[in-house]
Amino acid sequence: LPVPPMSIRFDPAGGTLQPEGPTLTRRMSDLEGLFRDHAAWEQAVADGDPVVYSVVSSRVPEVERELPQSITTIQPGSTAGELWMTKGHQHPNHQGEIYLGISGHGGLLMFNGTETEWVDMTPGTIGYMPPGWAHRSINVGDEPYSFLAVYPGGAGHDYGWVLEHGMGRRVLAGETGVEFVDYSAD
Ligand code: 6PG
Ligand code: NI
Repeated sequence: LPVPPMSIRFDPAGGTLQPEGPTLTRRMSDLEGLFRDHAAWEQAVADGDPVVYSVVSSRVPEVERELPQSITTIQPGSTAGELWMTKGHQHPNHQGEIYLGISGHGGLLMFNGTETEWVDMTPGTIGYMPPGWAHRSINVGDEPYSFLAVYPGGAGHDYGWVLEHGMGRRVLAGETGVEFVDYSAD
């Protein structure tokens, strides 16, 4: 069903949208096969299976010609040194997307199968994902990192692509900041 023209409010304290749409909660157990250290991932699942991120969506439907939005909030943390992140996906028909940093400090990792790109995300940063670039978000700070995503309604989410191809680089918590290591070093 199409929605009328509207205004949507985001409440950063509660992490909610008004009017609200669907909310998705991703726990550690939902991130199987994504962390480099499988044993550390299993241990984190056994140790309370923490919420890693949540995605609150508006009521704009994910259908062609609509322009849905959602706000992702990634908790701070790391597993065996690998910073907490979203699963990451490719849009099956290669549609572009934009993010806007809202609060906290994050990064936008993009991979087109050959090259990797990194956009440092702070409040006010607009990150652009061109068609064909798989994307993953990472919290590189010590507070929750929130960003707005706006994407074509027909974009879809292909998670298998990232499981198969990886994201080019892994993002680790280093001594003096973020460190990158190639997937080929796994
Ligand atoms: C999208 C956006 C974004 C993304 C979330 C969660 O296409 O909808 O890229 O809303 O879905 O940040 O990340 P994952 O979908 O990779 O779990
Ligand atoms: Ni996307």
